[in-house]
Amino acid sequence: MNEQIPAIQSAAIAQIASIADERTLDEVRVAVLGKKGTLTLAAAGIKDVPQEEKAAFGQLLNAARTAITAALEEKQSALRDAADHAALAGIDVTLPARPLAIGTLHPLTQIRDEAIGILRRMGFALADGPEIEDEFHCFDALNTPADHPARNEKDTFYFDSGKLLRTHTSSVQIRTMESQSPPVRIIAPGSAYRRDEIDATHLSVFNQLEGLYVATDVSLPDLKGTLEYFFHELFGPDTGVRFRPHFFPFTEPSFEIDVKLHIKGQAPRWIEVAGCGMVDPAVFEAVNASRNDRAYDPDKTTGFAFGMGLDRLAMIRWGIKDIRLLIENDTRFLKQFA
Ligand code: DAH
Repeated sequence: MNEQIPAIQSAAIAQIASIADERTLDEVRVAVLGKKGTLTLAAAGIKDVPQEEKAAFGQLLNAARTAITAALEEKQSALRDAADHAALAGIDVTLPARPLAIGTLHPLTQIRDEAIGILRRMGFALADGPEIEDEFHCFDALNTPADHPARNEKDTFYFDSGKLLRTHTSSVQIRTMESQSPPVRIIAPGSAYRRDEIDATHLSVFNQLEGLYVATDVSLPDLKGTLEYFFHELFGPDTGVRFRPHFFPFTEPSFEIDVKLHIKGQAPRWIEVAGCGMVDPAVFEAVNASRNDRAYDPDKTTGFAFGMGLDRLAMIRWGIKDIRLLIENDTRFLKQFA
């Protein structure tokens, strides 16, 4: 019995020494130290050892377990070192690292964030609304009659359900006034959709920024001052800004805003950048009817609204000739706005 333990020990250690992979090492660990391992089974024999030899037997057993465990651990770390070395073979750690391509903000994101920043400093809060709209919020409540050309199936994407992809962000005006009482001062950036022929200046989806300010004493000079300030912040203090009378169903009076652009090597010219006007009383009445109260009584409430195309502003700011560049994700183009 006393020879059995040292024999198991030396056999195990010899076997461990010859092992070349971790899996075999695990098998040997189980075969010797596991529940049915050779050493474990031999240890169970202690009950048959005479009382006076039990202590010596125990010592042999412990010494064997310690020696075998140490051999297993040593072998395991040697195998792992060897694997690490093999993995690194052929790699030149002195080579310079490959440069990481770091992304930049898309020009549309840049101009949108800038526009939002300017308007927030003037007290406008962000508002939001769905892109899949109903005719009431996109047209009817905005005083746009059923026979208006914008409502034509040729110009607007309709769903079979009668819903539609909003043709402008102006629908957010209605949704905001339905849920909040005056005063309101909001801006709503977002996508708008039209069935336009796609060319250098038109896509079927584009980005708008809507604004609405309603209180008890909002006047035309407030509208002019706010938007003049906005375009001076965006395009520089020397930029000419003019308001041209126009028509929108939802504002009266209405204007289009042009900015005077100075492009190097070209004669300065006026470019249309936004629509705006004083909120038409009919819009307030539509909101009142929907809310079922008189919170927006046109005798006490006035407001202005505006809407502009962010794609257009980006094209003007950077002299981008083709709107399609904004959606093609060509990094050679996008890199220029880093
Ligand atoms: N909704 C108009 C458009 O898509 C833009 C616009 C014009 C918005 C005048 C307004 C506004 O709020 O007052 O062309």
